[in-house]
Amino acid sequence: MSKFIIQGGRQLAGEIEVKGAKNAALKILPAALLSNQPTTINNLPLIEDVQRAIELLRDLGAKIELNQASCQIQVNGLAKNVIEPTFANKFRASIMFAGPILARTGEVSFPHPGGCVIGAGKRPIDLFLEGFLALGAELSQDEQFYHLKCRKLTGAEYFFTTISVTGTEAMMMTAVLAEGTTILKNCAMEPEVVDLADNLNKQGAKISGAGTPTIIIEGVSKLTGGEIKVMPDRIEAGTFAILAAATKAEITITNCNPTTIEILLAIFDKIGIKYSTGNDWLKIHKNNKIKPYNIVTHEYPGFPTDLQSPYTVLMTQAEGRSLIHEVIYDRRLLFTDILTQMGAEIIMCDPHRVVVIGPTKLSGRKLTSPDLRAGIAIIIAALIAEGKTEIDNIYQIDRGYENIDERLNRLGAEIKRTN
Ligand code: EPU
Repeated sequence: MSKFIIQGGRQLAGEIEVKGAKNAALKILPAALLSNQPTTINNLPLIEDVQRAIELLRDLGAKIELNQASCQIQVNGLAKNVIEPTFANKFRASIMFAGPILARTGEVSFPHPGGCVIGAGKRPIDLFLEGFLALGAELSQDEQFYHLKCRKLTGAEYFFTTISVTGTEAMMMTAVLAEGTTILKNCAMEPEVVDLADNLNKQGAKISGAGTPTIIIEGVSKLTGGEIKVMPDRIEAGTFAILAAATKAEITITNCNPTTIEILLAIFDKIGIKYSTGNDWLKIHKNNKIKPYNIVTHEYPGFPTDLQSPYTVLMTQAEGRSLIHEVIYDRRLLFTDILTQMGAEIIMCDPHRVVVIGPTKLSGRKLTSPDLRAGIAIIIAALIAEGKTEIDNIYQIDRGYENIDERLNRLGAEIKRTN
């Protein structure tokens, strides 16, 4: 298994470019199944989850030419309407392929998706199933697969009882080719939802309201191809900003949209991290003292759960106590045990809340990355720490961050990848 060996304490500085957003790319790729015309997708992040999505598209019969961050996809006809367990087990976003396959062929079979272990038990897909049923699909189930079938999909009104990013996106994609109007209520408002709607609209879809709680989709009979650009990854941008603050470095983050991480910047104002911004860049200035500040994770535009783990590491360097309240996922704070092993002072109140008491010195250890976001947080902790940290199971980090070792090394970090 590949590992990162990180020598802590190096002074970082310089410029780092943000890649295309994982959680936008993983929806734009399956959306290519909705059209039989060629679609070019630019600014694709070259990460493991995107590779898995491309493998799955190929298994479904898509012809794909991949040239660095650009990819051309054509899906004349689908070779099958099954999402094989070998793909579904590897990434949760495999569920995003179900709606487009159903919309295109009237039938789809798929197992329960895998992915990061950050919820209690299997992460649920009840909202997806309910949504597909609302659009007129029929559901049956055996030991291995969910089977959905429909003669045609018909527009419907659906209210999300839990706000779900992928649930909103799955319904949007499926309803694009349904007959009539679909009204989705209590939708997720994340920028990735808006990005997907904008891109589908460029291909002839009629979606309005994305970025608000109510999205209206007027069904169309077909989508065209076209050229699409994946939005910059706001979680990567926020992670690099936290990395700069935590390591007390001056770092300019390019190819990003600072307005998508407004909550983090508003908190930086409160905790004494100085920064400047432009339309597509963000510069974190060298800082000394960090004040503590409590956070509660929330749907957009609140504090993103995907930045909670790096922020928790930042708070180990703040002068005082901060409460981290993770509302979205049941297991996302369990990684703080690793920070404690590195010397952090963290009290777990319950699975959803920890108190971090800073500032503490951290020291290098042999560790395993439990999931993607905890993995990058441990890298930040290792860069602050004294001595060497060895991180195992880095596939979990490569799933979402492209060549993170090389990119951080260009800032002055000392990270070695071993096989
Ligand atoms: N939920 C249900 N039923 C469902 C679906 C979700 O109860 O059918 C619950 C979840 O258990 C969770 C809550 O709804 O408690 C919110 O989860 P959501 O569905 O919004 O999460 P998601 O759509 O599965 C996406 C991102 C996550 C990110 C969340 C929240 C993708 C592929 N994943 O997940 O990204 O944390 O939104 O912003 O877009 C990551 O990148 O590390 C990651 C986990």
